Amino acid sequence: MLFCYSFRSSGKQIPETKEMTMKRVLVVYFSQTGQLKQVVDAFIRPVLESVHVRVDIERLDPLIPYPFPWPFIRFFDQFPETVHLCPTPLHPFGFDIDTKYDLIVLAYTVWFLSPSPPVTAFLKSREGQIILRGTAVITLIACRNMWLQAQEQVRHLLLQADARLLDNVVITDRGSTLKTLVTTPRWMLTGKREAFWRIFPRAGLRDEDIADMQRFGKALLPALLRGDTERNHPLLEGLKAVYVDPRLIGSEKLARRSFLIWGTLFQQAGPQGHPLRKLTALSYGIFMLLMVVTVIPVMIGFRSLIKPMRQPALEKQCRYFEAPSGSSDFRMKERS
Ligand SMILES: Cc1cc2nc3c(=O)[nH]c(=O)nc-3n(C[C@H](O)[C@H](O)[C@H](O)COP(=O)(O)O)c2cc1C
Repeated sequence: MLFCYSFRSSGKQIPETKEMTMKRVLVVYFSQTGQLKQVVDAFIRPVLESVHVRVDIERLDPLIPYPFPWPFIRFFDQFPETVHLCPTPLHPFGFDIDTKYDLIVLAYTVWFLSPSPPVTAFLKSREGQIILRGTAVITLIACRNMWLQAQEQVRHLLLQADARLLDNVVITDRGSTLKTLVTTPRWMLTGKREAFWRIFPRAGLRDEDIADMQRFGKALLPALLRGDTERNHPLLEGLKAVYVDPRLIGSEKLARRSFLIWGTLFQQAGPQGHPLRKLTALSYGIFMLLMVVTVIPVMIGFRSLIKPMRQPALEKQCRYFEAPSGSSDFRMKERS
């Protein structure tokens, strides 16, 4: 489904001349509860204010909608296809494949350390591959806090589509890994999002963090108008685009390997909804919950203990996962 925005009131933050050619931006996203949509809105708002940019917004629309809140078994039954990057069928795209966009903003959430299936479907579709070919891309991730492996998959799919990844911007929950391992599944499985028991914070992103995403749109607009998307260089450096938690690098790698093995087992049990698969999903769900309260806290504690010994290797890996935009903040003072 496509929404077009152009010729909005001109927020004249930089000189814009009449001779400027119209820039075209496509924003592609899928958001279940609307949280990622809020992030997208804040990110793109400064760009929408320019009379020299036309923004098309493509909301990915699965043929079979996902439930919310998720029934327990349905939630875990979703995971094999998600980790094996099986595209889910989507309603037809609204964008025109003959349009040459100056920039595509690909906004996605993470499901089981992978991009959510509608985003995978876009990346693997014929239309997606055509529109992405040779085009500058910014990935924008909003999730709990485990996104490294998902971005690896997305990077790979973008490379296959011959797209040019210029930046990656990530916004995550502020709560600790252990607390959000409780609050996020609770939100997804019951729809309850508010803080509880005094120790658990409200699930999801903070409103002020979402509002602050406009710093990227503000920096993006002049770069877009200057034609910087033609260069293969990040546009959003110095704005704290990403933060990589070194303690999660190893956990994510390990969890992804386990997901792939379990995913294959699930698929052998039958298609989604098959009684044997439901049983496997139930066992896996219980296994995951047990892991969350036992093995994961021990692993996080152990990794914190041995962190000093692994410091140089971890720093190298952090720099790798922070690319291309990085975690530096040298442009934060420019902000109004
Ligand atoms: C099935 C499912 C699996 C998820 N897995 C992860 C995950 O592996 N890592 C993570 O950081 N967040 C995970 N999340 C949270 C989402 O990334 C996201 O924050 C949340 O679904 C809200 O996004 P929305 O805008 O689509 O509503 C998961 C959510 C769902 C529904």
